[in-house]
Amino acid sequence: MSKQEEKKLFIETLGCQMNDTDSQHIIAELKEHKNYSVTSDMEDADLIIINTCSVREKPVQKLFSEIGQFNKKKKNSAKIGVCGCTASHLGEDIMKRAPYVDFVLGARNISKIKDVVDTKGAVEIDIDYDDSTYQFAASGMNMYKSSVNISIGCDKECTYCIVPATRGDEISIPPEMIVQQVQKEADRGIREITLLGQNVNSYGRRFSDKREKYSFTQLLRDVSEVEGIERIRFTSPHPLHMDDEFIEEFAKNPKISKCIHMPLQSGSTSVLRAMKRGYSKEGFLKRAKKIRDMVPNVRITTDIIVAFPGETQENFEDTIDVINQVKFDQIFNFKYSPRPNTAALELADQEIPDEIGSARLTEVIELHKKHQSELMNAYIGKTVNVFFDSLKANGEVAGFTDNYCQVFVKGSDDLLGKFVDVKVTDATRTALKGEVVS
Ligand code: SAH
Ligand code: SF4
Ligand code: F3S
Repeated sequence: MSKQEEKKLFIETLGCQMNDTDSQHIIAELKEHKNYSVTSDMEDADLIIINTCSVREKPVQKLFSEIGQFNKKKKNSAKIGVCGCTASHLGEDIMKRAPYVDFVLGARNISKIKDVVDTKGAVEIDIDYDDSTYQFAASGMNMYKSSVNISIGCDKECTYCIVPATRGDEISIPPEMIVQQVQKEADRGIREITLLGQNVNSYGRRFSDKREKYSFTQLLRDVSEVEGIERIRFTSPHPLHMDDEFIEEFAKNPKISKCIHMPLQSGSTSVLRAMKRGYSKEGFLKRAKKIRDMVPNVRITTDIIVAFPGETQENFEDTIDVINQVKFDQIFNFKYSPRPNTAALELADQEIPDEIGSARLTEVIELHKKHQSELMNAYIGKTVNVFFDSLKANGEVAGFTDNYCQVFVKGSDDLLGKFVDVKVTDATRTALKGEVVS
C-alpha cells in the first residue's frame, strides 16, 4: 500500500487540560493513521478541528461565529470537525445550525477520530466506555513533560456544572494501564507527568471491571515508582476527598510537586450547600491549613464562582474571608453562567444581576492581585530549583519550581530537561526572573 499523501491539520483547543490532552490524542491518531501533520495556518489546512468547551455560555456562542469564519476562509476542499464537550451536548444540532460541519465527535469519543474523519455527516456522542478506547498513539508534544488521563467523566452533581452531562459517568482507567502509559512517557524522556481527571482524588470508585479496592493515594505511590519520572502533578482534586492519608502522601512523597489545586467555588457554607459541593467553609479552611502546616512551601490554587443564584452580600463576604485567610497563589475566577442540563437552572428566579456579578468578580480579582504581589515578591533573593522545559521566542528559557511557580532565565537550550538552581532576581505577579547559580 502506498503511503497516504501528507495532509494538514489545524486544531484549536478550548477548555481545560483534559481537552488539551484529548487534542494531543487527536493529533497523534491522525498522524499515525491518516498522515496528517499540524499547521498553524487555518487557510492552508485540509482539516479544521475545534475541540470545544461548554462550561460557560460565552465560548459556546463564540464557537458558531468562529466556525462560520473558518468556513468562509478555508480551502474549498477542507473539512471542519467539531469535537469535545459542546459536541457532546449539542450533537446533531451543530450540523443543523452549521450545515458545512463535516463531523461531530463528543468528548468521550475521541478514540473514534480516525473513523469519523472521512465520514461526512458522522455524529459520535454516545457515552459507552471500554478501556481499549483509552489507548492512543503516542502524543509527543513536549519532550520533557506530559499528561495522562486517569479517569474520565464525573460523578459529582455540582449544581452549576455541565461537565457530568458532557463527559458522562466517572470511570477510572485501570492503574496498570496508567502506570504502563507513564512508563512509556518516561522512556521517551518525559520527566514530569500530570495525572488528569475531573475529580482525581475520587480515583478508584468505579472501574469498568471488578477489582480490589485501589485509591488515588495508591496510584500516586505506584506512579512515583516509575523510573525516570521525577515530578508528579495532578488536577483537579476535590477538596472533599482530601483525606489525611492523601495529604500525608502529598506532603512526604518527594516526587509530588508541592502545588495543589483546591477549587473552593464559594466561601459561604450555604452557597456551597446549594452548589452541592459537600464541604463547609470551616471544612475547607481546616484542610487548607493542614496542607500549609505540613508543606511550608506549598502553593495553593483555586477556582471561584461569584454570583451563584441567591448569593447574598454576606455570602460573598465569606468568599472574601476565605481568600484573605488562605491567600491563594492563583485564582481562576468566574461569574456564574447558567448552563443547560444543570440543577441550578431551577434557581433562575434568584439569579444575581449582572452588574453585581461583575462588581464581585472585580473585587476578587483586585484582592487576589494584592496577595499575588506579596507572595511573589517574597521569592526575590531566594534560590529555587527549576525544571526547565521550554525555550521562549525572546531567547529566555522557562521552567517551573517544585511548587510550580514559573521561572524565566537567560540561557540556552542546554538547560532544557534539567533541574537547575536559580537565584531569583525579580518577580511579576505570575512569574519569577532569575539567574542560573553555577
Ligand atoms: N472538575 C473540576 C472543574 C471543572 S470546570 C473541579 O471540580 O475542580 C472548571 C471550573 O469552571 C470549575 O471549577 C468552576 O469554577 C467553573 N465553572 C463550572 N461551571 C460553571 C458555571 N456554570 N458558571 C461559571 N463557572 C463555572
Ligand atoms: Fe463539575 Fe463538580 Fe464534576 Fe468538577 S466535580 S467537573 S465542578 S460536577
Ligand atoms: Fe470545558 Fe469540557 Fe473541560 S466543558 S472545562 S472542556 S471538561
